[in-house]
Amino acid sequence: MEIRKVTVVGAGLMGHGIAEVFALNGYAVTLEDAFAEALNKARKSIETSVDRMIKSGKIKPDEREEILGRLTYSSELEKASADADLIIEAVPEVMELKKEVLSKISSSCGPDAIIGTNTSNFRISELAGSIKGQDRFIGIHFFNPPVVLKLVEVIKGEATSDKVFEQIFGLIKEIGKVPIRVFKDSPGFVVNRINAPESLFFCLVIDKQIAKPEEVDHFARANGLPMGPYELMDYVGIDTVVHSLDYYKNSLSPDYGRCHAFHDLYNRSELGLKTGRGFYVWKDGKAQIPAAEPTTKLDLMDVLAVEINEAAKIVEEGIALPDDIETGVKLGMNRPFGPISVASGLTNSEVRSKINSIFERMGLEVFKPASSIESGKLREIFSIKGFKGEEQESTVAEKQEAQPAQPAGVYETIKLTKEGKVTVLELNNPKLNLINARVVADLERAIDEVSNDRETVVVVIRGSNGIFSAGAELSQFFSSPADFMNFSRRGQSVFKKIQESSKIFISQMEGYALGGGFELSLSCDIRFATEDVKIGFPELQRGILPGWTGTQRLAKLIGMSRASYLILTSERIEGKQALDLGIVSRVYSRDSIGNETMEFAKKLSEDVAPVAAYLAKISLNRGSETSMDNGLWTEAISMGLLYGTEDIKEGVSAFLQKRKPEFKGK
Ligand SMILES: NC(=O)c1ccc[n+]([C@@H]2O[C@H](COP(=O)([O-])OP(=O)(O)OC[C@H]3O[C@@H](n4cnc5c(N)ncnc54)[C@H](O)[C@@H]3O)[C@@H](O)[C@H]2O)c1
Repeated sequence: MEIRKVTVVGAGLMGHGIAEVFALNGYAVTLEDAFAEALNKARKSIETSVDRMIKSGKIKPDEREEILGRLTYSSELEKASADADLIIEAVPEVMELKKEVLSKISSSCGPDAIIGTNTSNFRISELAGSIKGQDRFIGIHFFNPPVVLKLVEVIKGEATSDKVFEQIFGLIKEIGKVPIRVFKDSPGFVVNRINAPESLFFCLVIDKQIAKPEEVDHFARANGLPMGPYELMDYVGIDTVVHSLDYYKNSLSPDYGRCHAFHDLYNRSELGLKTGRGFYVWKDGKAQIPAAEPTTKLDLMDVLAVEINEAAKIVEEGIALPDDIETGVKLGMNRPFGPISVASGLTNSEVRSKINSIFERMGLEVFKPASSIESGKLREIFSIKGFKGEEQESTVAEKQEAQPAQPAGVYETIKLTKEGKVTVLELNNPKLNLINARVVADLERAIDEVSNDRETVVVVIRGSNGIFSAGAELSQFFSSPADFMNFSRRGQSVFKKIQESSKIFISQMEGYALGGGFELSLSCDIRFATEDVKIGFPELQRGILPGWTGTQRLAKLIGMSRASYLILTSERIEGKQALDLGIVSRVYSRDSIGNETMEFAKKLSEDVAPVAAYLAKISLNRGSETSMDNGLWTEAISMGLLYGTEDIKEGVSAFLQKRKPEFKGK
């Protein structure tokens, strides 16, 4: 059955966000809540959120009424469920309440309607008991806030049909989210299950007085995590954490009942952000974390080892595949790396000895090594691409395996658009177009794609929203110096593809062109900038250096003295200085750079003979890396090659006939 009408039951934090996501994607949505007050609050929150999106240019002002008009608010559960194709339950995480609401939904909705639950932890099969037609019941676990976070866990209960599982998986993709398949409804599914021993670990850190929350949170931030664990628990709600631990105590292991710090806060009703006080006092939506020295009693690897251990158990139990676990943790915890990529840089015995030391320190069974780690099979378990043995599941997994990685022209972080002989490669990664492993992978494919496109002569690289790129975002965990070196080599090899491409690359530097963003520009053949662009290499102030060709390309471009100054001081320059230094060839105003660059690129793509441009580019780049004599040979051989092209004949005869040449690139 096609899904057109969606009803969300429970208009709280999650429900109103889920309703908004569907309305933004063109669905007719009914948002139902037992309390009128909750509905009013939800309506206001949705309106504020839509207005914010209009302000930031994500949606057009004239779409406002249409989007809001798709939403209906109701306090009659039976009526709201009656004609919906999909009903998503998002009432509080209380088993009996959920069962009661789900039972009412299933007796009010049509026989073919799909029923989903946004439960964070409860087994789908446990909730299913209250539903008529259990094969249509499924877990659809959005993350908070649903409008922003991309991840949705799609969870199969014991009775959920494959058809419903796949249909919801497709639907979640269609509304612009990233679904992961959870084949078994183990408590906590993937992300919260990985989080479970971690929460326990941090609870024990307080119980055992190993460190204070602020010492741990400063430590976490210093290690590049967006939020420390205690700040995050305050944000999520101490009550939520406590309820989860209580559920895991009964469903996963009694160990989850063996810590006190969270329950102490809970008993004092200090629930974090929602009550203004938890581990920290919260003001204006921000945790007031006291100043403290980062703890030296913990090692980031402790926490990562706990995650790797739990991830191994998830795969062993056939709950989810390693790639999905990695995606889940990255997107669900808003983190640059997940346990699978961390494990790829470690040996089995390193992980095992770390886990064993945590087990000894904390003394609870949940911290014992997973059996694959115990038996030295971590690598094997994390390279599984599909679950075999159970026919139903392997069919789904194989289907997933058979999907092409990503078809040509489809990129997560890049937009390619063609206008005649010009292709625009636009970096489109939220957060200042930072360059992470995903962007590097997309860049590599996109550069290959434009380089293989016969029509394209000129490529303009720019960034979305007027920002070229604020630099590199380290999106993986590096366990050794050699790992980090390889990361540098990978960026270098992708950027080198630009220099070796047969196309002319122009970089349109606006907003920020910092660090890796600046290096990307340096790899291009021509650079234009806005007057107010901020260009520079901040790397040395962060303890690293420009490691994606920067130290070499900049010195070649502007000479040792000037390059040394810019790299060693991390000084930022603007367009005019960049022009004076010879880094950029033209400077434009912010308003005009887009049109001016395109005009220039179009004219250039018509005026130059493509093969001659390619060989000139190679001679320039090679010549700067070799002796004069070898450079001159490259130049002469290129001339010889050009002599055999049709374009040289066209160029000469057009010149003699005083007409515009028509080059064919042959
Ligand atoms: N808060 C999170 O970060 C988060 C993240 C993912 C999933 N979840 C899950 O989503 C679900 C909802 O969580 P939340 O944070 O939105 O809770 P919430 O308390 O903010 O909202 C729940 C809403 O349900 C309404 N409600 C209560 N009883 C009802 C009934 N009988 N019929 C209709 N409405 C009823 C309440 O009035 C409230 O508006 C829970 O299962 C939770 O575990 C929460």
